[in-house]
This record gives sequence, C-alpha cells and structure tokens, in this order.
Amino acid sequence: MSADKVFHSRSEGIPSEGVKDQYADGKAARVWKKYIGDSNQRTQNYKDFLTGLLRKHNCVKVLDVACGTGIDSMMLVDEGFKVVSVDASDKMLKHALKARWEKRKDPRYDEWVIEEASWETLPRDVQSFMPGATFDAVICLGNSFAHLLDEYEDQRTQKMCLENFAKVLKPGGLLFIDHRNYDAMIDSGATPGHSIYYNCKYPVDIKTSVLVVGGKPELVALDYCIGATADGEISERSEFRLCYYPHKLDKFTVMLDEAFGNKAQHSIYADFKPLDQVENPAYYIHVMQKPL
Ligand SMILES: C[S@@+](CC[C@H](N)C(=O)[O-])C[C@H]1O[C@@H](n2cnc3c(N)ncnc32)[C@H](O)[C@@H]1O
Repeated sequence: MSADKVFHSRSEGIPSEGVKDQYADGKAARVWKKYIGDSNQRTQNYKDFLTGLLRKHNCVKVLDVACGTGIDSMMLVDEGFKVVSVDASDKMLKHALKARWEKRKDPRYDEWVIEEASWETLPRDVQSFMPGATFDAVICLGNSFAHLLDEYEDQRTQKMCLENFAKVLKPGGLLFIDHRNYDAMIDSGATPGHSIYYNCKYPVDIKTSVLVVGGKPELVALDYCIGATADGEISERSEFRLCYYPHKLDKFTVMLDEAFGNKAQHSIYADFKPLDQVENPAYYIHVMQKPL
C-alpha cells in the first residue's frame, strides 16, 4: 500500500491486521442499537417499501446478509416473513442473538435463524448451516455494502460478493441493496444527519472526510459522535469511525448488472421513491430481480 493510503480507517481498539470487522471493538455495536432504535422505530416509508415489494413478488424466505443487531430482520419477522440473518461481526450478532432470546415467548421468532457469515464466502457459509437453501429475497441495507473497501483497487472483492448474493437467490428472486448518495457526499463533503431508515431520537454529529488518491475518491470516513442522553439510555459520549467505499451511482449500477450476467431486471429508487421524484436523495436503493 502506498504511503498516501495510510489513513486511520478504524476506531482505536480495532486491530490493524486482517480485520474487516469495523465493529470488532464493540464500541459502535454497543451504541448502534440504541442509536437506531428498535424495529418499531423503522420509518413507515422504509417498512412499506420493503414489505410491499416483497409481498408483491410473493417472497417469503428472506436472507438478511448484513443483519447487524437484527433490526431489519425483526421488522420482517414481525411481518410474518421467514428470515435468515447473517453478519460477519460477532460483536453485532451478539445483539441480534440477545434480541431473539428476549422474544423467545413470541412464536414468530421460533424460526428466526441467526448465523455468522461473510459476503465473501456466502454460498459456502449458508450451505454449512442450511444445506441446499436458496432465498426468495436477499437484503443488504442500511449502507452496509459500502463497508467493504476496495483492497485491490479494481473492486474485485465487491464484484465477487455481488455475485455471491445472486447465487443464493432463487430464479425470479429479489436483491435489495443500497448505498448512500456518495456522488453528493463527495461534492459537498457532508453527510445528511437524518436517516431514511430510522426515526432516531438522539442527535448525532457526523463528520465527513473524503480520502482522494490519485484524483479518485477512494474512501469516505464518517466520524460519529453521539452524546450522553438525558433519558440515561446512552450513558456516555460515544465516538467511533466507520469507513466506506464511495460507490458512485453509475458505476455501482453497471457492477450490479454484471453480477447478474446483465440479465436481471434492475430498478433504482431514491429514498424509496422513483428516481425522478427526488432531486438530491440521501440513499439509492437498487432492486434486482434474478432472471427466471
Ligand atoms: C451499518 S451495519 C447495518 C446493519 C443493519 N442492516 C442496519 O441497518 O442496522 C453494517 C453491517 O454490515 C456488516 N458487514 C460488513 N462487512 C461484511 C461482510 N463482508 N460480510 C457480512 N457482513 C458484513 C457489519 O458487520 C455490520 O453489522
């Protein structure tokens, strides 16, 4: 790695060697669940968008490949979907497992499967705990995919992971995948404070840094600062850094199409609305339908 790429892409406490888990020190994981609230605090727009499309396409079995603390998965379990949730971070999964335990008296949660898996080895990982399984839908939401940085400067790992998502889908199945509007973030150097996914009751300060290498934006670092809250829910000020690959809409669109052999139906939404209805969205959400 060249000297100009030495940039602290992790919070203190995250070791530098071989670690792709940006949540490994547990710092962000601890506050994340409180910050984004529970599944009841998901925005109605998001819930209607996701469950509406899943039902329209008769999707029942859903794989959440970036379940984190389990929030989206729980929203789907509550809505009657059969959900399998995976994540690469055991620090995040710990919260999902605890949430399932807390719901143990609710029969809808009996079939909620939570396992550790990485996008890089997804078909093999799923095979190990659910042989032969394929899914009606795969979701990778909440700006999760951008956590995967471009180690080799040719996006080969990202391409492989997108192909893995396509592999675990049934023919006709749907992939929901999103990214922040990095085009706008690079231009403005700022990140929208509000979320389209959750109704956050706590103020958060997000500082945005864009690392440009050879004239090309290679990484966006977001420094989150969440203060202690008066209700005592968050007892101390929390600061953590998460780094993202700044996916540009046009390039990401091509990469996704290629991952599905240029044969999938590809719809793009802006903040859950048709693309032409939102001028400067916070997020782009791509929905791929794998060919039959
Ligand atoms: C921002 S969190 C989002 C979690 C959840 N979808 C939400 O909206 O709250 C992103 C998640 O992606 C997971 N992740 C990052 N890289 C991964 C990989 N290679 N394989 C599986 N999960 C990964 C992280 O561990 C983290 O839990």
